[in-house]
Amino acid sequence: MRTLNNHNNSSTGSGQQATDNMHTQHIPVLLQEVLKNIELHKGDIVLDGTLGGGGHALAMAKEIGNKGTLIGIDVDSEAIKRVENLFVSHKVECGRFFSQNNFRNIDSVLNKLNIREVNAILFDLGLSSDQLEVSGRGFTFQKDEPLEMTLSNSIKDETLTAKEIVNTWQEGNLADIIYGYGEERYSRRIAKAIVEGRKFKEITTTQELVEIISRAVPSGYRHGKINPATKTFQALRITVNDELGAAREALDKAIMYLNQDGRVAVITFHSLEDRLVKRKFREWQSEGLGTVITKKPIIPSDEEIRINKRARSAKLRVFKKQ
Ligand SMILES: C[S@@+](CC[C@H](N)C(=O)[O-])C[C@H]1O[C@@H](n2cnc3c(N)ncnc32)[C@H](O)[C@@H]1O
Repeated sequence: MRTLNNHNNSSTGSGQQATDNMHTQHIPVLLQEVLKNIELHKGDIVLDGTLGGGGHALAMAKEIGNKGTLIGIDVDSEAIKRVENLFVSHKVECGRFFSQNNFRNIDSVLNKLNIREVNAILFDLGLSSDQLEVSGRGFTFQKDEPLEMTLSNSIKDETLTAKEIVNTWQEGNLADIIYGYGEERYSRRIAKAIVEGRKFKEITTTQELVEIISRAVPSGYRHGKINPATKTFQALRITVNDELGAAREALDKAIMYLNQDGRVAVITFHSLEDRLVKRKFREWQSEGLGTVITKKPIIPSDEEIRINKRARSAKLRVFKKQ
């Protein structure tokens, strides 16, 4: 096995990292549905752009067998380490190349390997259970952690963090991202409260932000079905990681590297991402690049949601190149 390491890992900044003895088990979402719809064969070349806990990668590796090749990418080096260990313990036989990288750079990863065409590409967007629960980077409002929210665990001085956004961005810009990426109806109130709050003290932790948000929203909303910080946290994470920009760029590149009959599958977890994928696939189809396999997105069964609550908002869309 060869590991491509395209990032300088020496600067891990303040990002705490999940260790091998401190991790959760990420259950792959819509696994059978992915396998059924990407139709892998022995000897195929497949790219997993979001290795995460390696569940999809492992299952795809088994499908392609010892003559196949799996290229795995994740922006978080902890994910790469975890999946390497998983593959060793499962004695995976296919050829494999792992790269700590942003999937928006799939072109440079594939070019470095001299691979011009692949049979299938998977993007399972968002974050893994490990990132949410044990990374310590501030993705969850249920814990008190530094406000980083970077999917990459390599934080450098110039890396944009949630802390920088909440402490330095203008009120109007804060309101715009909270509304645009969080679809939060109280975006203006929350942005105003953040700007007021930071006058007294820099906002550095998730709980400081949660308190500001919860004081800013009406009491009915504060005690409503979802935590009032949910949408603001989503908006900050999307902004910090330029998640929509990265997905758009990755899809534009992915279609160029698929071979004839090759398939790209995308699992999304919120409506902004799903809309982006749906539009992109329709655009490709109207340009004659191939066919949308999933006329409607595939969603998890009640049984899957019962076993894995995280799956409840997942949607899978698949496109087949002509
Ligand atoms: C939902 S998890 C993937 C889970 C995986 N399919 C599994 O079966 O365990 C998403 C992963 O994608 C990674 N990721 C998200 N955006 C990325 C990007 N732009 N480039 C590379 N990796 C990214 C995250 O770091 C995370 O590990």
